[in-house]
Amino acid sequence: MSVAGCAPSRPLWLLAELTYACPLQCPYCSNPLDYGQIKDELDTATWLRVLREARALGAAQLGLSGGEPATRPDLEVLVAEARRLGYYSNLITSGIGLDAERIGRLRAAGLDHIQVSFQASGAELNDHLAGTRAFQHKLDIARAVKAAGYPMVLCFVLHRDNIDDMDAVLALAAELQADYVELATAQYYGWAWVNRDRLMPSREQLARGEAVAHAWQARLQGRMKIYYVVPDYYETRPKACMNGWGSIFLTIAPDGTALPCHSARSLPGLSFPNVREHGIDWIWNESPGFNRFRGFEWMREPCRSCDEKERDFGGCRCQAYLLTGDASQADPVCDKSPHHGRVLAAIEAAASTPSEKPLIFRNPRNARTLSG
Ligand code: FES
Repeated sequence: MSVAGCAPSRPLWLLAELTYACPLQCPYCSNPLDYGQIKDELDTATWLRVLREARALGAAQLGLSGGEPATRPDLEVLVAEARRLGYYSNLITSGIGLDAERIGRLRAAGLDHIQVSFQASGAELNDHLAGTRAFQHKLDIARAVKAAGYPMVLCFVLHRDNIDDMDAVLALAAELQADYVELATAQYYGWAWVNRDRLMPSREQLARGEAVAHAWQARLQGRMKIYYVVPDYYETRPKACMNGWGSIFLTIAPDGTALPCHSARSLPGLSFPNVREHGIDWIWNESPGFNRFRGFEWMREPCRSCDEKERDFGGCRCQAYLLTGDASQADPVCDKSPHHGRVLAAIEAAASTPSEKPLIFRNPRNARTLSG
């Protein structure tokens, strides 16, 4: 589709969520709360078709994620096809389901990049947050990834319980000889939305974290790149989520539902097509779901007349829905939004939530309770 005044959009970034199966139970997981009811995973042949069709439409970056994508036994087959088609492929993994031998097979199949996530800098907190013993295996996998010749890319999701350990987190990253470290504060979707009051760090924690990140950035300049991403609730302008709806991101969920972002299936009143029934070309260019918030015509005030709309596209549709009940509102992170007070109230509610309040872990029992 060509948006008035814009070049035609292309799905440059394809995120293949291969499965919702995952041995971990992270309380900030971005998967839907009812992931347990979405069982009918795409088979290998359909994924291969998706890769081909998206590539023909211009997709260049392929993210392989989940759940835990390494639980798919056909991962090597998909990687090999991605290489043949000319994708730059990135495996986003907890490390569970990998060993040195499989990493070698993925390397031989043409995988370009592996990102290993950690929950914390030490076994006790890491394994508590993961809901299972995983820390030692993650260390082994991180070393195996490096030994296989990959750049070492580590991801730590930060929140109230681990952000004060950032010094130790970065010391671990340095010890593992990481080339890139992403310190990304949890974004409040999926399970993180349910746990938002409990996960949100305070403004003081964020400031301390920033100082620690800057100190390490200076110390390891030229050796390790550190990215520190704060939660947008503390900003006054929204993020340009997905670079605009239906602009460059295409997510395919494990059951084949095609989505403009990983959270969009929770938006009411929208239906999203499935790759079992439609080709990627139709899905991207013609489907009502992908066109719903494309461009600027859908915008209401204050976005419609805002001189910043081409920079932030009105922010995040999913966050607008979660905070106002209406996905066509301005993202309330923006202080021009009449609903900005809801973000400030959420910060206050988090500040008065005791750290003793139990986290709700992503597991089948909690999924049944929350979605049923
Ligand atoms: Fe869905 Fe931002 S996460 S539009």
